[in-house]
Order: sequence, then C-alpha cells, then structure tokens
Amino acid sequence: MDKIIEGHKPLRGEITVPGDKSMSHRAMMIGSLARGETRIEGFLEAADPLRTLRCLESLGVEIRRDGDAYNIIGKGIRGYRKPNHTLDAGNSGTTMRLLSGILVGQNFESELSGDEYLLRRPMKRIIDPLTLMGGNISGTEQLTAPLNIFPSTQLNGIKYEMPIASAQVKSAVLFAGIFAEGETHVIEHQQSRDHTERMLGLKSSVENGNKTISVTGGREIEARDFIIPGDPSSAAFFIVAALLNPHSDVVIKNVGINPTRIGFLHILQQMGGNISIANQREAGGEPIGDIHVESSALISHQTLSGDIIPNIIDEIPILAVAAAFAHGTFEIKDAAELRHKECDRLSAICSNLSLMGVDVEERKDGFAFETKNFLLSSRFQSFGDHRIAMACGVAGNAMNGTSIIEDAGCVDISYPSFWTTLQSLTN
Ligand code: S3P
Repeated sequence: MDKIIEGHKPLRGEITVPGDKSMSHRAMMIGSLARGETRIEGFLEAADPLRTLRCLESLGVEIRRDGDAYNIIGKGIRGYRKPNHTLDAGNSGTTMRLLSGILVGQNFESELSGDEYLLRRPMKRIIDPLTLMGGNISGTEQLTAPLNIFPSTQLNGIKYEMPIASAQVKSAVLFAGIFAEGETHVIEHQQSRDHTERMLGLKSSVENGNKTISVTGGREIEARDFIIPGDPSSAAFFIVAALLNPHSDVVIKNVGINPTRIGFLHILQQMGGNISIANQREAGGEPIGDIHVESSALISHQTLSGDIIPNIIDEIPILAVAAAFAHGTFEIKDAAELRHKECDRLSAICSNLSLMGVDVEERKDGFAFETKNFLLSSRFQSFGDHRIAMACGVAGNAMNGTSIIEDAGCVDISYPSFWTTLQSLTN
C-alpha cells in the first residue's frame, strides 16, 4: 500500500499511543512462565507482539482476551508443550531472540523462523551466549535464522559481559538464566532498555558505570498483573510531527517515560523543542506521563555518539527527520547496529534524506549532514520497515506538496493505526 501525504498541516488534539512494544512481548512471555494467572492491560495489538502471543499458544499456553485486557494462564517454568510446527516470529527480532532464551531451557526440540527480513538479521549474538550456557541452538551457516533448538543436558549460569549494547541479547541470556543451574550475571558496559529486569524483578547493581543484572536459576515466577504504558518510540513520531508543523499543539497521554527510553526527548528539547511532561506518575512499576508538544523552530548542533546511542536506537530515523527541518548540523556516530534492524536503517535514512534534497554523508557507523533551507516532497521508500515508513510520513507532513510513502502498510508491525491517528490530528 502506498500512502499519500498532503504536507504542511498543523497537528492539534489529544491522543494516546498504543502500548509499549518491548513491554508487551515481555509481559506475555513472563506471564506464560508464571505460576497463576497474569492480566495484561495495554498490550500492543500489532503484528510483532501478536507473533509472540501466537508462538506461546503453539507452546501450549492459554491466552484469553477479556475486554481490552489479556489473561494468560501461566504454565510455570517447566510447563510448555512441544510445538507441532515451526514457530513463526514474522518480522519480530524480539520474539525470536527472547523466545530462544526460553526455548533452550525446554526438554523438547523446537524451530524458530521468520519473514525474509528477520531471516537476514544476525543471530550469532544470541547463539554465542546461549551456547556458552550449555544450550543446544544452531542457525544457518551465516548464523542467521531459522534457529533449531534441542534439549540440553543442563544449562549453567554464566557471567556474561555484553559485547554489544542490546536489550534483546541481555534478555535472552536472563531468560535462559531462569532455567540454568546457579546464578547468571549479565554485565552491561552501555545501558540498554531495562524492562526485562524491571518486569522480572531482578537484582541489579552499578559499579564504575557498568551494570550487572543477576538471575537465580530454577526459581518459580509468581504471576503478577502488568499495565503497559504508551510506547515512547511510537509517541516520538507525533512529537516530532507537532514540533515541525507551525501552529501545532498536541498532548499524548499515558506515555512510558522510562529513562532508558527517552533520550530522544532530551535531545529534541536541546534542539529547542517546546516539550513538557505533565502528570508524572508510576503505573505497574514504570514511570509514565502526559507529553505536551507545541511547534518550535529547531536548531541542531548535535553530534550523537557513545552511550546515548542504545537509548535512542529506535528513534534515530525520526531524530534525523527533526534535524533535517532544523537549522544547523546533525551527526550520528557509533550506530553501526542500525544496519541490523528491520532493514539497514543507516542506508534507509540516508537514501530518504537524499530524496528530500539533504546532502547527507553516509558512514560505516552513522551519517552527517548540514541542514538545507528547501526540502522537496518526495516518493519515499519504507524498505518494509515500520519506523522508516513513519519517519518519512512525518517528513512528508512537514513539507509543502504531496509525498508518497511506498509500502506504508508495514506500520502494522508496531502501530497499525498510525496513519489514521496522523490524519485525525491534522484535520
Ligand atoms: C528491543 C531492543 C532493541 C530495539 C528493538 C526492541 C527490545 O533492539 O531496537 O526495537 O524489546 O528488547 P536491540 O536489543 O537489538 O538493540
């Protein structure tokens, strides 16, 4: 589906955004392993978390929709049953990597596969630590999926120093730690999103800037309810859209403001973005708030590198769009990880910025550009990547003329109602 965007329309109104994607996956998985019944409010009904739900059902977990909530009848840590087909993670790296951590601890064989995009993404990053723990997991020769997982005699706790900053890898190891003998410790040199440790109630400590998270093997998980806030990564698109369009005024209610996720908000504020967070409170162990945005003239002198990159990893496409409409310069370094997302996001960002007339220099681990006064409405390419599609939609909305986003239906991965919400705010 191509999406046509008529540009230069102010955004006005109050919205909520759908539930946090990272937390939705984790809530389903933790609920499935718990003893007792878990109720999830705010679960994100989008393609990715629904893949997790279907995989868990194939593993014998009973999941019931109850009005707007989901109830999961937990199986305990040893209660899954052998699936009678390949588990399909679709486009979802989180489903594949986190579930692998759980499946290596089972006493049955399983296979995990996915769509053409997911089958290209690196799995060595989880195969390595899970194998170190004694797990029996293999991929293709290129160490990509499909992944085949066999029962192992025993998993052992390990001390694992993260070679890259990745919440998915950290979570795969911590989930496997639940099934291991002894303690598993994960050491992060750069902090990635911390939902797994929060939602599992794990111990963690910080020394010399390094965070260690520990899990004790063999302990049952007691069921608890989860309230999932709005996804800050989804809110980011409307925050930038409102900043860029003159006369905009938008409130986004009940958004997660976990500090490991909102680096982009501080960056936009530094760029002169008129953004405030009201009504800050806690819901289900996570900080949330209502975000108020008014249109602002942005000035960018940003070089983003090092520790901030894992925090803004999903927001770099939309930050690049914000910067393209600002005055000044914008540079991203240390972000080679972006080449391994739903698509090669460095290349996708740079090619779409070029279409807009931005003179962008693509580098191995980032990109850099100086802003231009005139940007061109374009025919943008999503590369089948939801965040690229939404970022280009926001760019098109901020420009004079008509833009087209090719293959815009991929927003279903994290935000199925994105285009209708954008339209409702611009009417
Ligand atoms: C996620 C972690 C991040 C992020 C992805 C979701 C998670 O990936 O990009 O959208 O839920 O753990 P990495 O762990 O690969 O950085």
